[in-house]
Amino acid sequence: MTAPVILVVNGPNLNMLGSRQPEVYGRDTLADIESSCRQHAATLGIDIEFHQSNHEGDLVTWIQGARGRCAGIVINAGAYTHTSIAILDALLAAEVPAIEVHLSNLHQREDFRHQSYVAKAAKGMICGLGSHGYLLAIDALTRLTRGTRKA
Ligand code: DQA
Repeated sequence: MTAPVILVVNGPNLNMLGSRQPEVYGRDTLADIESSCRQHAATLGIDIEFHQSNHEGDLVTWIQGARGRCAGIVINAGAYTHTSIAILDALLAAEVPAIEVHLSNLHQREDFRHQSYVAKAAKGMICGLGSHGYLLAIDALTRLTRGTRKA
């Protein structure tokens, strides 16, 4: 039997992690986060597909591709969180449980970051716990989907 797959999708500017406003986003690079996601998922018997793009359409295409194939989606859509109806629609169309992750605590920041289109389609949101939030999201998806066909 093949291992369930969790798709991890990262949006714009997250490729800059490590050097980008470390006081807000921490010192881990995206490669560090990918490697800890893979290590953690391996302990749970899960495969990870990990992507980042600065282009909204790439995120939409990856989310569409999860339909009927992935057990769950971890999504940090970066600034598209606050603007993208296209990403919201893709998540609704995919019909795959999704957990929204943000490194920073959105609610301690500017008002425009308090609005999330992703949240309208996500099972839950983890924000403010830095890169550890990705691992918590993998745990949450594992628990949510355990006992179902794909996980
Ligand atoms: C972020 C928060 C967003 O508001 C911001 O645009 C990002 C990163 C986070 O992980 O804290 O790019 O998603």
